[in-house]
Amino acid sequence: MELYRKYRPMTFDQVIGQNHITGTLINQVEKKRVGHAYLFTGTRGTGKTTCAKIFARAINCLSPKNGSPCGECEVCKSLSKGGNLDVIEMDAASNNGVDSVRDIIEQIKYPPVNGSKKVYIIDEVHMLSPGAFNAFLKTLEEPPPYVVFILATTEVHKLPQTVVSRCMRFDFRLVPTAQIRERVKEVYDGEGIEYEPDALDLIAQAGEGSVRDALSVADRCVKIGEKVTYDDVADVLGTSRKSDIYALFDAVSAGSVGDALKAGEKISKQGKIPSVVAKDLVTFAKDVLLCKTAGAANLGGSDESKREIETRAERTTVNTLIGMIKVFSSIDADLRYSTSPAITFEMALVRAAKMYDDDYSSLEERVSRLERRGVAAAVQPEKEPEQKKTLNDSRPMDAQGIWGRLTTYFRQNESMTFYSAVGAQTDIRIEGENLIVTTDPASFDTLVSPACHDALVRALKEDGVNLRIVIEIKKGGVDMDKEAERMQKLAMPAPVNVYKK
Ligand SMILES: Nc1ncnc2c1ncn2[C@@H]1O[C@H](COP(=O)(O)OP(=O)(O)OP(=O)(O)O)[C@@H](O)[C@H]1O
Ligand SMILES: [Mg+2]
Ligand SMILES: [Zn+2]
Repeated sequence: MELYRKYRPMTFDQVIGQNHITGTLINQVEKKRVGHAYLFTGTRGTGKTTCAKIFARAINCLSPKNGSPCGECEVCKSLSKGGNLDVIEMDAASNNGVDSVRDIIEQIKYPPVNGSKKVYIIDEVHMLSPGAFNAFLKTLEEPPPYVVFILATTEVHKLPQTVVSRCMRFDFRLVPTAQIRERVKEVYDGEGIEYEPDALDLIAQAGEGSVRDALSVADRCVKIGEKVTYDDVADVLGTSRKSDIYALFDAVSAGSVGDALKAGEKISKQGKIPSVVAKDLVTFAKDVLLCKTAGAANLGGSDESKREIETRAERTTVNTLIGMIKVFSSIDADLRYSTSPAITFEMALVRAAKMYDDDYSSLEERVSRLERRGVAAAVQPEKEPEQKKTLNDSRPMDAQGIWGRLTTYFRQNESMTFYSAVGAQTDIRIEGENLIVTTDPASFDTLVSPACHDALVRALKEDGVNLRIVIEIKKGGVDMDKEAERMQKLAMPAPVNVYKK
């Protein structure tokens, strides 16, 4: 049996996170002041059906304990055996027609057999057809004194106002993660299952306020005779393992593009979905930011994971964290529409890592100090007339498409450095015979270096595209004399094929 079924609370004190409701219901049972129609609404898996069942029994129990059914009297016993005709449960999802409502109305004439009330639980009540609602409404208006209706639904807005207004309404809330965690712990302890404390945190969070969802995740993580680990849960949920997020974070915040790409690749090999990894990274960066600005006392989780967050808070600046959060929280849409989410994600890694690359910022400064001259570099593919394809070729000449294929080529055949420089480019257009790439200064040097130049030529040739690649620098351009001087200082060969416009 699924854990969430096995551990359905039998008394109100086992129901978590709904004290505002259970308190009132207990009170009504104790004072014997039970109304004739109740409406339980709220998110899935928060205890509506559970409370309806407990309440129905408590109303009829011969000696309720603290407002809950005693479980021992005749009525309670017959109810748990299922041989009690006084509590009628109907699932409107499967019986939604006028006929099932007529059945109910028909039975209502007969008073309760064992207890004092006849209780009708109509679950998923929003599924009733309009005709069924109408038939029901009259009974709801003036039910016999011994009848109690408990309606339950996640979708109260689908109910006719006339029904809602006749009921005492209770809104079930999302259950706080800490309480869900406690419940999962009880269940695991009850089953004799061992677990890492962090695993419980992750399971509880995964419930997102729903106790049932958390318990079914808990169920799926159990492997007979084995301890439930954080990584087990992460694998079940498809979220990232902690060590992988640490590696990504460290590489990006240190500005090491290569390490970031390696960490990214490792995660994608595990079959994790880029958008989920991005979300996990954002969550982690937010925790580090919280720790940095508000202190470690505000963090949840185990001591060990707190320590991991604290050490990173010490060595990372607020700006770095904000930048990282910005990059990875803004790629969601890109990922959704991307034909290759893995590459889109890797490019975000490159972008994010570059923000903290000292080399890059100083280079950018240097370049922006140079005069505006509109200088561009051109990389010319070697002409091979026999294989020549023209712009009128069957393959559509879209700049992004060509560049996408070049990026894929570089991913498979070239170094991380070249791949990241090529993949980081987004500003690409075709003008006449030119494929124009407008790049930031950081990638410019790489893109026009002879080795990368050759690779670009090779890739273009393989792609069968006969366009000349022109590489331009964003932001003001570069004074070529000074640029040549700078490159000499850096002991790099002077840029080939660089021309002044
Ligand atoms: N508040 C709660 N306290 C303790 N356990 C809960 C609570 N809510 C849900 N559960 C667990 O989840 C299971 C399903 O809960 P229940 O059927 O009451 O949810 P529901 O609100 O009726 O959901 P749905 O809207 O999907 O019908 C229960 O058997 C129990 O194990
Ligand atoms: Mg329910
Ligand atoms: Zn009883």
